[in-house]
Amino acid sequence: MTSNEKIGIVGSGFIGRSWAMLFASVGYDVCMYDVQEKQVSDALKEIHRQLTNLETTGLLKGKLTAAEQKKCIRGVTSLKECVQGAKHVQESVFEDLEVKKKVLMEIDQLVGPETVMASSSSCIPPSKLSADLTHKANVILAHPYNPPYYVPAVEVVPAPWTSQDVVARTRAILTEIGQVPVVLTREHPGFASGRIQYAILNECVNLVKSGVISVQDVEALMKHGLGYRYTWMGPLETAVLNANGDWDYDIQVCKFYILKSIKESSALVKVEKQLLECSL
Ligand SMILES: NC(=O)c1ccc[n+]([C@@H]2O[C@H](COP(=O)([O-])OP(=O)(O)OC[C@H]3O[C@@H](n4cnc5c(N)ncnc54)[C@H](O)[C@@H]3O)[C@@H](O)[C@H]2O)c1
Repeated sequence: MTSNEKIGIVGSGFIGRSWAMLFASVGYDVCMYDVQEKQVSDALKEIHRQLTNLETTGLLKGKLTAAEQKKCIRGVTSLKECVQGAKHVQESVFEDLEVKKKVLMEIDQLVGPETVMASSSSCIPPSKLSADLTHKANVILAHPYNPPYYVPAVEVVPAPWTSQDVVARTRAILTEIGQVPVVLTREHPGFASGRIQYAILNECVNLVKSGVISVQDVEALMKHGLGYRYTWMGPLETAVLNANGDWDYDIQVCKFYILKSIKESSALVKVEKQLLECSL
């Protein structure tokens, strides 16, 4: 069991529930709050059901039993009780800038400098959420993938004023709960995952629109081809290891449709050097 350090989950909808289960899997004292009280009681029932099923099917995360993990999660009726003294607060309310700003403003007034305030937002830059806060250096984005209990990557995006200590603490706690933090060095519209996802989506729509391929076959290609491969080897590693083992292959194959950045040899050298340096 990690400790009885406190985690505050604000918003107990779909994503808040998953975060609660992940933090409980290593024994944190998880407090869940929602503006609608019924959401919290529904969340607790649903979490208990899921934890029992996960244990029965051998898919439960962590070393604690389902009963022990259930005990780690409690619902609370005030935001103060949820966040005060917490090591980490995970804001998971509606994806609405004004709602999120208001909630984070309230949290900011209740916590001290020890609390990391992370938002689950899918696309709102953290600077827009935190510019006016006292503890703005403690605000960071931790964007999970749906469903977070089963998809490990979490996109971590700092605002320009987020402290490096908060980046490091966020990376550490996500790793501790079994997730895979993917840390951007700075804010970027669409972050990284949105940009990659929408580049793929654009091309799929273009291909269908121009009659080159059917909707069913695009789906099959992604599910049983590219997506299947990307679960164990990313696009850069694939490109470097492809066919005769270097970028030449990709450049030859893709000579009619090659990204400008791939044509630039300095970009290629940089990507290849980083791939060799890291232990993918
Ligand atoms: N659902 C997804 O696929 C997904 C994936 C990644 C990230 N996200 C992000 O996670 C966040 C939550 O999404 P969700 O799908 O869980 O939404 P949801 O609608 O299931 O849950 C949101 C919860 O927030 C509560 N809430 C609203 N205002 C509140 C307030 N002022 N204080 C406390 N609670 C409040 C609502 O009552 C609701 O229970 C959003 O920012 C979303 O973009 C969602």
